[in-house]
Amino acid sequence: MREERGRKPVRLGVLASGRGSNLQAIIDAIEAGRLLAQVVVVISDKPRAQALERAKRHGIPAVSLPVDHFSNRADHEAALVRSLQGHNVELVLLAGYMRLLGRGFLHIFQQRVMNIHPSLLPAFPGLEAQRQALEYGAKVAGCTVHFVDEGMDQGPIILQAAVPVLDSDTVGSLSERILAEEHRIYPEAIRLWTEGRLRLEGRRVRSLPD
Ligand code: GRF
Repeated sequence: MREERGRKPVRLGVLASGRGSNLQAIIDAIEAGRLLAQVVVVISDKPRAQALERAKRHGIPAVSLPVDHFSNRADHEAALVRSLQGHNVELVLLAGYMRLLGRGFLHIFQQRVMNIHPSLLPAFPGLEAQRQALEYGAKVAGCTVHFVDEGMDQGPIILQAAVPVLDSDTVGSLSERILAEEHRIYPEAIRLWTEGRLRLEGRRVRSLPD
């Protein structure tokens, strides 16, 4: 662990639409002292998302912003921005957030939005990436943490981890193997960001040494 004296915990805002196991991995890394950060708000477009329950259990403000409560996408994103800025969020983390973010949002949080995707990008972007990998016949699968741009699962890659695809795999067993790696590399990528160790050069993200 690096010398943490004098550094303040980075304020994280998490957007999640579902189960929230990546959110949990981030909270666990913080509580274990592996990440000098604080989740200051969790926002979901799904009022019943398990991620919101997890947030409440840890005393983190949980905000529900369903899209159909707004007259258009721009208004919905403006509400997201207000909530994140209202909590002074420094880094936005998408953790199973099932919506694309628009140019306005990304302009405000330039290079400050990350996503985790369950494939080795650029292979298998979009929905059901694990099923795509299995049905394609890939022998290696994995996950990717990347900066978010306007494309779907297309921004600069920060970290990746690979896992084997076994002959016996189902979508469930492969997803589980990938998820264990997601829970490892997402907090690690956030740590690199919080330590100011990520440098973007074109599409390439370099991690500066410790
Ligand atoms: C993960 O597989 C993540 O890679 C993808 O959506 C899933 C979210 O899972 N973007 P959880 O809600 O974090 O458990």
